[in-house]
Amino acid sequence: MRVIVKGTFAEACVAVAEIIGDLVRRKPTAKLGLATGSTPEGVYDHLAEMCAAGLDFSGVTTVNLDEYRGITGDNPVSYRYFMDKMLFSRINIDPNNTYVASGVKDLEEELARFKRKIYDGQIDLQLLGIGVNGHVGFNEPAEKLYCTAHVEKLTPSTIAANARFFAHESEVPTEALTMGIGDIMSAAAIVLLAGGANKATAIRELITNDFITTAIPATFIKAHSNATVVIDRELAELAGYR
Ligand code: PGA
Repeated sequence: MRVIVKGTFAEACVAVAEIIGDLVRRKPTAKLGLATGSTPEGVYDHLAEMCAAGLDFSGVTTVNLDEYRGITGDNPVSYRYFMDKMLFSRINIDPNNTYVASGVKDLEEELARFKRKIYDGQIDLQLLGIGVNGHVGFNEPAEKLYCTAHVEKLTPSTIAANARFFAHESEVPTEALTMGIGDIMSAAAIVLLAGGANKATAIRELITNDFITTAIPATFIKAHSNATVVIDRELAELAGYR
């Protein structure tokens, strides 16, 4: 696993966008695994700028990590809405080539569709954030982790962390559809981006020891042959990384 430390979080976002941009330039039909949350916003801003400057997304397909259960895609708190607003409407991607799982369709059918979208052609690059509790996607710390796409019950820590996007914590959905750890590991490359003091404990477990543990699901990416963690200097110091 490579670790890239940038001076600021903004620079870390640019570095990740450049990695994605290089891939799309090299392979115009790239398949991207994308993430939501506050972390990738700067990446998507930069990709939008790169598209305005000529980077062509017309042949790119995408599949997103996760979506809340019980929320429709036109709801501003949904991850479909986030992706349309933050990225898809700002680049020349064909909306039909983007997939964010539906949180409201028949569950079994949707999970089957989700799996087809993940495995119908390998994901070239999976972008990840990391939860305060070390989750990736919505794979929450537990004794056992799921390998493939499934419904996950969100932990109180995740519900509290995501409450800022809702009027009240009680409105945060308690379940989500998410890729499993094996789905994430099936990507040809993984890029995990993190910033902020509240991620220090999870990042410490990810980059300062050699252990994999279901208590910090992100640690599984240590076993991937092409994984990169991109953080800023402040987080590196807080995590005790030298
Ligand atoms: P955040 O979420 O980017 O909003 O911090 C990351 C995550 O929970 O994976």
